Amino acid sequence: MAQQQYKGRLTYAQGTYVEFVVAPNQDVDFGDILVVEGKNNDRFYVRAYDFKVKSRWSGMNGVSYLMSKLDENGQIVNQEELDFYLGGNHTVKIGLAEQLCYADHNGQLFNPKTCPDFFCEVRGLSSKDTSLLKEMKGDLEIGFLKSGRTVLELPVGIFGSKAITEHIGIFGTTGSGKSNLVKVLSSSIIDNGNYGLLIFDVHNEYYRDLSQHPKFHDRLVVYNTNPESRHNVRKLALYCDEIEPEDITACATFTEPQLDAIYKLSSVWHDRWMECVLKYDTQDIIEELHECTGQKFQARTISKIKSICWNLEQELNISDTQPNEKASIAMQMMKELEEGKVVLVELKNISPVGEQALSTLLSKKLLQHYAGKTDSERSHLKPVLIVLEEAHRFLGKKELTSQNVFARFVSEARKFNLGLCVVDQQPRLLADKVLSQLNTLFILGLASKADRSKLEAMCRKDILQQRNEIKNLDCGELIVATNYMRFAAPVKVHKFDEFLTRKFQ
Ligand SMILES: Nc1ncnc2c1ncn2[C@@H]1O[C@H](COP(=O)(O)OP(=O)(O)O)[C@@H](O)[C@H]1O
Ligand SMILES: [Mg+2]
Repeated sequence: MAQQQYKGRLTYAQGTYVEFVVAPNQDVDFGDILVVEGKNNDRFYVRAYDFKVKSRWSGMNGVSYLMSKLDENGQIVNQEELDFYLGGNHTVKIGLAEQLCYADHNGQLFNPKTCPDFFCEVRGLSSKDTSLLKEMKGDLEIGFLKSGRTVLELPVGIFGSKAITEHIGIFGTTGSGKSNLVKVLSSSIIDNGNYGLLIFDVHNEYYRDLSQHPKFHDRLVVYNTNPESRHNVRKLALYCDEIEPEDITACATFTEPQLDAIYKLSSVWHDRWMECVLKYDTQDIIEELHECTGQKFQARTISKIKSICWNLEQELNISDTQPNEKASIAMQMMKELEEGKVVLVELKNISPVGEQALSTLLSKKLLQHYAGKTDSERSHLKPVLIVLEEAHRFLGKKELTSQNVFARFVSEARKFNLGLCVVDQQPRLLADKVLSQLNTLFILGLASKADRSKLEAMCRKDILQQRNEIKNLDCGELIVATNYMRFAAPVKVHKFDEFLTRKFQ
């Protein structure tokens, strides 16, 4: 555990603003979170955001006098003499800090209530700061608190029960550590057991690492449409009657007549519409639709629909009507999620069209599954988080229509104990309506100013205060801001394999 460390003494306070003199042998960095020990066994948590250096020599006369000790090139003539003038207590470094929160003598945390007294001790965070640390740790650990240039061994995470249903955003340039963070978060969810997680794995990059987890067999389920003979990977397949028109319309661009035909097909054949589209000839379909609805569709219209359905049938292993509900793999997946398992759906070998259809379909099923329960039934189900990578493909400014399942998910899921975690390297491409609903943000390094500005514009003030830190985040470092935490915290995310080793050795 980090040692409690003397850092200095408070020299000025006004409202939530404080100044302190930095002890001569101590380092304090921009962004350091420090503790001011109050007079009544209370504590003030502050964040240093600026410094100034003051000296008794700071006045005009003093500076001129010191300058006179330099040679014509501005170099020091007599170091010993100058040290004498500058040393001792003649020069101080003053830290400027903002109060983040306050803990009373019982350790209960509040937003700032009062300000500390003159000359109180300022120290580094330590394991003594239990209430603050508990709040920051949450129940899903992701990393250690970073304080300036050092990483403190103080765990930081989120509370799943609060964060999941309020939606999460993970943003960072390629290589900033998004995938590693998803792995660490998944691993914490596996350990915790109280939440389900549905990951759409676009690059098939999670299986290898997550299968190292000791609880892999009990808590992780992997699906692939073509599992080959990989151990513990199940074959993903669907039945025709599980596919609704909107799963198809979400995945490709259709003309008005084509859309019309899809909805007419489903109103004529209901659940069996896709089965019939696949089974019957174009001409037979046109005649049947004509007979039932009076509309005569063109062969081109119907064959485009047939062709897309056929492609999906091949790609997603879609077969005829299911014998019974138990046989449905999608339903089995819903069961696993509600029990709090981590479900990995591998999509790497699926075309963009198939991927869109599948993720739409499964997300919608999950929403329907949870929405169909009564409140008391639902209280026995685990909250589930869906991880959507490269989310702007689904939730971009153009893609966002009222029919979009993910848009609906973002606005409705919360009622049903579900949440969305959008992962993206370019948050500026996401629709504002979506960004504004993400209440927990993991901001990793973002190379583009446009992306950082977008997040600042959409988010709360605490992110603005940390603008400089956000600009300088290294790989695996992030700022986490959530609506229930009192302040945004800088974190060094655990490296996945080290996290596992440390925990299970
Ligand atoms: N928290 C971390 N600590 C140490 N190394 C990390 C961390 N996060 C990521 N890395 C390393 O950085 C590289 C890129 O990480 P990755 O998670 O794939 O980034 P992204 O998904 O954002 O492109 C990987 O090699 C990974 O091992
Ligand atoms: Mg990645």
